[in-house]
Amino acid sequence: MKPLVYVTRKLPVEALRSLSKIATVKMWEKANVPVPRDVLLEEAKDATALLTMLTERVDEELMNVCEQLELIANMAVGYDNIQVDYARKRNIIVTNTPDVLTDTTADLTFALLMATARKLIEASNYIKHDKWTTWSPFQLAGSDIHHKTMGIVGMGRIGEAVAKRATGFDMKILYYNRNRKPSAEQKYNAMHCSFHELLKESDFVICLAPLTEETKHLFNKEAFKQMKQSAIFINASRGALVDEDALYHALTTGEIAAAGLDVFEHEPIRSNHPLVNLHNVVALPHIGSATLETRMKMATLAADNISSYLKNGEVITPV
Ligand code: DGY
Repeated sequence: MKPLVYVTRKLPVEALRSLSKIATVKMWEKANVPVPRDVLLEEAKDATALLTMLTERVDEELMNVCEQLELIANMAVGYDNIQVDYARKRNIIVTNTPDVLTDTTADLTFALLMATARKLIEASNYIKHDKWTTWSPFQLAGSDIHHKTMGIVGMGRIGEAVAKRATGFDMKILYYNRNRKPSAEQKYNAMHCSFHELLKESDFVICLAPLTEETKHLFNKEAFKQMKQSAIFINASRGALVDEDALYHALTTGEIAAAGLDVFEHEPIRSNHPLVNLHNVVALPHIGSATLETRMKMATLAADNISSYLKNGEVITPV
């Protein structure tokens, strides 16, 4: 009998083609709707491997239901949706999808920075809502990007790719990371500094650190207080790195100038979320890696991790 693989979201068959040759692949078929928890618990129980998304909580309860589970292949570089310590206890391997999304996510991060600094969404709406009646000297005047200081919190692969883009804008690059990154220092002239220094000196503070116990609400009241009043905060990592009440306070009292947010603490958010209606916020629905090419590569890599494991016991990108 072929091993069972349960896929928690509808994915293109091409991504699963080679996996389907060696496994029975069951998939949640409703497009754009996450699998309900009770269905997941029932459908996944005989699975040897799960192909999951960040919308699924892969916790002790789910792993306990899946007695034969050997592998969780997450279709994301982040894996804070998975209780990795419990998986380890159970000898369940966890994989993610690094590298294939690096440039795409860096592009979006930079696009979000530009949209926020130059008020692109507000400016586009200006025309759509018929507010453009005349040209004025300071109408929709934003902040320059070139020659400014970018502070990257979390200098992983995506952080480095953002730094690379920033060099094209003649930006000075500071970074705060657990470990020094000599390659980024050499290639992009990035300077390692303390969190405090980064907040104090940066015109753009870019959050790209992974969500862990230590980084939860890293951007709190004290953090925003240390930023420049002209600072623009960009988050393309995970919403829970930010205390959203503190960010709201900082944005509405002029403690910082603006924010570009691709992620929120409790996704999906609705249009009545307090941050979304602020004129100085550009909000996106977690689309960092959302290009057709990259999402296909992520789906294929997640499936290939499972195929590789089923064929030879080795995975390609373990976390
Ligand atoms: C990731 O991969 O972690 C992104 O947030 C989802 O594309």
